[in-house]
Amino acid sequence: MKRTNSENITDLEHSIKFVTQFITHPTKTGAILPSSNKLCELMTDIAELNKVSTVIEFGPGTGVITEKVMQKKAPDTTFFALEINEAFVEATKTRCPDAIVYQSPAQNARKHLEMHGESGCDRILSSLPWLTFDGDTQQELIDTIYDVLHPGGKFFTYAYVPGLIFPAAWRFRKKLNARFDKVTQSKIIWSNVPPAFVYQGEKA
Ligand SMILES: C[S@@+](CC[C@H](N)C(=O)[O-])C[C@H]1O[C@@H](n2cnc3c(N)ncnc32)[C@H](O)[C@@H]1O
Repeated sequence: MKRTNSENITDLEHSIKFVTQFITHPTKTGAILPSSNKLCELMTDIAELNKVSTVIEFGPGTGVITEKVMQKKAPDTTFFALEINEAFVEATKTRCPDAIVYQSPAQNARKHLEMHGESGCDRILSSLPWLTFDGDTQQELIDTIYDVLHPGGKFFTYAYVPGLIFPAAWRFRKKLNARFDKVTQSKIIWSNVPPAFVYQGEKA
């Protein structure tokens, strides 16, 4: 679909906000630019959001993935996003006024599900900067994700191809394999900056 001039200006404003946050909080932000439209489309398509009733997003940043979730989920699906950076909470709320966005770490997922009267969730879409996390934090988050997913639930997160040279990327992959019952990876989106693919972890 062709984008209007005002949509392009808004994208530019969000990109500037993103770069500013990267300069201020580089390790927590973990990327220099927002995810591309193609990467966001891929992640939200393979998640088959219209078939499930509870979805959580971790680390929405400027809300590029949140926007797709809001378009693709069923109208009565419970959905909220957890983001630690106040500026990104505001950016996501501005882009997606109807989305529920809490300023809260992903580690609090269970607490927020309980606030919504849910015992677990069917999908988790994450943009968390795994490469900047130490092994304990990676493990804590993977355990949280597995714990809150219903049986049959699925977890999606993207990884940057150039990032695979770092030991933290392989440590993360090993931990995913050890915790999830099945782990697969998507095709690579070469036009994303940097090129990226999506991991899918399934809970049996
Ligand atoms: C790579 S950026 C997200 C990019 C987003 N997909 C976009 O394109 O705008 C990672 C995000 O995770 C957030 N984050 C980092 N640690 C977090 C945590 N423990 N819980 C929730 N959000 C976290 C950061 O503040 C940042 O917004």
